[in-house]
Amino acid sequence: MTRTKIKDLIHGEEREVLVKGWVKTRRDSKGGFSFLQINDGSCFADIQVVAEHSRYASVEKQVTTGSCVSVRGKLVASEGKGQSREIQAAEIHVYGSSPVDYPLQKKRHSFEFLREIAHLRPRTNTFGAVMRVRNRLAFSIHRFFQARGFIYLNTPIVTTSDCEGAGKMFQVTTMDMSNPPRVNGEIDFSRDFFGEKTFLTVSGQLEGEIYAMALAEIYTFGPTFRAENSNTSRHLSEFWMVEPEMAFYDLDEDMDLAEKFIKFLLSDVMEHCAEDMEFFNTRIDTTILATMKNIIDNQFERLTYTDAIHQLQKSPEAFTYPVEWGSALQAEHERYLSEKVFKKPIIVFNYPEPIKPFYMKLNDGGETVLAMDVLLPNLGEIIGGSQREENYEMLLQRMRDKNLNPEEYWWYLDLRKFGSAPHSGFGLGFERLVQFVTGMGNIRDVIPFPRTPKHAKF
Ligand code: 4AD
Ligand code: MG
Repeated sequence: MTRTKIKDLIHGEEREVLVKGWVKTRRDSKGGFSFLQINDGSCFADIQVVAEHSRYASVEKQVTTGSCVSVRGKLVASEGKGQSREIQAAEIHVYGSSPVDYPLQKKRHSFEFLREIAHLRPRTNTFGAVMRVRNRLAFSIHRFFQARGFIYLNTPIVTTSDCEGAGKMFQVTTMDMSNPPRVNGEIDFSRDFFGEKTFLTVSGQLEGEIYAMALAEIYTFGPTFRAENSNTSRHLSEFWMVEPEMAFYDLDEDMDLAEKFIKFLLSDVMEHCAEDMEFFNTRIDTTILATMKNIIDNQFERLTYTDAIHQLQKSPEAFTYPVEWGSALQAEHERYLSEKVFKKPIIVFNYPEPIKPFYMKLNDGGETVLAMDVLLPNLGEIIGGSQREENYEMLLQRMRDKNLNPEEYWWYLDLRKFGSAPHSGFGLGFERLVQFVTGMGNIRDVIPFPRTPKHAKF
């Protein structure tokens, strides 16, 4: 007999079934029965198994909270509260029992505690739901771009270039740290594995641009790494980013695509993860579904950085960070604008040149660049993007101004030499998206194995 997933029998016909999963709870009745709640991860709901003591006496002691079992029996309508179907067990087999010190006993555990047992936390209701939603969102990302004819591109994880120039990168080396080869006292990286200094990528954008200059519309979806020492609920040292890059798009078209993208992802997950979303909306944040619906139904507000600064300056709010034209918008500013002023997602564009990377196209006048950030209420920045500088001379100048060595980026400059084209793109932080959709407070709880400063254990 083949295994049936619990999700396929919650409303199923009466019949003989075989299920396999983990025992969430066990309750024994005086009448000689045990009631087991079994979950196999296929859906939020457990299935109740009713086992007659006399029938499973030989394995009874091993069927404990946390144990893994297979149950063959009859699926019938349940008379008990809280479930429509249950299984009357005919045969129970125990794959692995679980001793009494199983850490996930029947009570609510804090997410901090669960992070310390990252190998067991996927068995909880919350993490099961988070991972199913994360999975659906990953699938919808591909659906969105594939439906539009974008090509999925895998960009390298080991790289020699720093795309964003904003933070520290993780260095990759096979040299002996206690005794690296040196010339004139300096470490000789020409003798390192790749013959030069290499790092873990902070973004696949520059490589994405290469392929956009041939295939026109591409997207990447992969891990990126940032060695910033930021211990916030919105930052990871290793996170997944989606980066579409499009030839022939200007900044307006870039913003249009970003808005459609977010709306598509939210409606898709609401449709296909209804049960898990209902859980988040009752147990994690009771405003999520209403907020998501509001986002899907309304246009995002678009305003320039300069207008954003004016809005902030005339607000009565006491911000921790000063509001001045020329400085970066802080999370508190971004959230104030989207939550209090506009009460919906906003796209801020045309940022001051000095606070943005070298590859962004300059506006006339040269003070601002064609950059845009999408900011969501309750979250802040989810997307950062821009129109790229396609003019060779201008790009060269920007690199020199930012103290970058043009020789190291000769291949990137070449794209502007041989058949350059206007183009744009953006990056969406995948974990921030999952965080927004689930309402989870800490980004460490929406990725299977979070990497943050001093944490790489699980
Ligand atoms: O704004 P960022 O740094 O943009 C880029 O990397 C561009 N190369 C994208 C592009 O134009 N192709 O990062 C993009 C997004 C942010 O908006 C944020 O959602 C997420 O990536 N992000 C992080 N997510 C988790 N942890 C971190 N440390 C993150 N840093 C950025
Ligand atoms: Mg950004």
